[in-house]
Amino acid sequence: MATSEGGTRVALVSGAAQGIGRAIVLRLAQDGCDVALLDIDGDGIDAVSAEVEALGRRATALKTDMLDRSAIKSSFVRAAQTLGPIDILVNNVGQSARENAAPFWEAGPDLADFLVNICLRTAMDAAREAVPGMRDRRYGRIVNIASDSAYIGSKSAASYAAAKAGVIGFTRSLSRELAEYGVTVNAIAPGYIRTRATDLLPAAFVEKAISETPVGFLGKPEDIAHAVSFFASEGASYITGQSLIVNGGRWMN
Ligand SMILES: NC(=O)c1ccc[n+]([C@@H]2O[C@H](COP(=O)([O-])OP(=O)(O)OC[C@H]3O[C@@H](n4cnc5c(N)ncnc54)[C@H](O)[C@@H]3O)[C@@H](O)[C@H]2O)c1
Repeated sequence: MATSEGGTRVALVSGAAQGIGRAIVLRLAQDGCDVALLDIDGDGIDAVSAEVEALGRRATALKTDMLDRSAIKSSFVRAAQTLGPIDILVNNVGQSARENAAPFWEAGPDLADFLVNICLRTAMDAAREAVPGMRDRRYGRIVNIASDSAYIGSKSAASYAAAKAGVIGFTRSLSRELAEYGVTVNAIAPGYIRTRATDLLPAAFVEKAISETPVGFLGKPEDIAHAVSFFASEGASYITGQSLIVNGGRWMN
């Protein structure tokens, strides 16, 4: 992915050490981007950075707790110092309640706060750092990772689904604010994707998920990376504020 002047695009991906984030990083590197990797798992992003460099692109691994605003701020500064201004921001970090999943009225406010913060506030905080430079340079691509549970709802995941619906509302609103500056903001809403999270689920749950999915299999992290690559491309300049559901047809809007 080169700039119109033949330079290299710089991408920053949160939650980059494994799963969907790792696949996004590698896909953007294959597309020709240099990539800043942010994750709380320092060893994990070091390993993925080495994979990026093996693809012939530059990488910088910045161990960052995305729940810490000042850490996000300093990692953005370091990323830009090392690789140059950020053209593409992928807000991927997020998670469901996992083993703590419970009906909303039993789960308690601390879990709800955590899920809203990790899924929604992290995207807002990272966008706050990325937007001024994108606006000044009149170019940018922001891709937010939501979830199809934002549309379908999900038992024992009310706070997660609410946070992910918030990501979609944030995407739409930010896209309106930035459209005139050449910055697009889109979201991807994955269904079940095989990652560490799904590997921890009981086999019966996974079988049920597959049976509910028309294509008959769970998605791969690369399926989400493919969609990110599209939204991050220059050719997607006429698409903004949209949310693309990538879920094998489990739910259609
Ligand atoms: N896997 C799925 O089926 C699925 C479905 C819908 C949406 N999603 C969304 O896709 C995104 C990626 O999911 P995944 O399944 O690849 O997750 P994952 O748990 O496999 O990876 C998440 C990454 O985020 C990092 N991380 C966690 N907390 C962090 C923090 N505080 N600061 C920095 N990094 C942190 C982890 O170290 C890990 O590398 C999430 O937003 C998730 O909600 C996933």
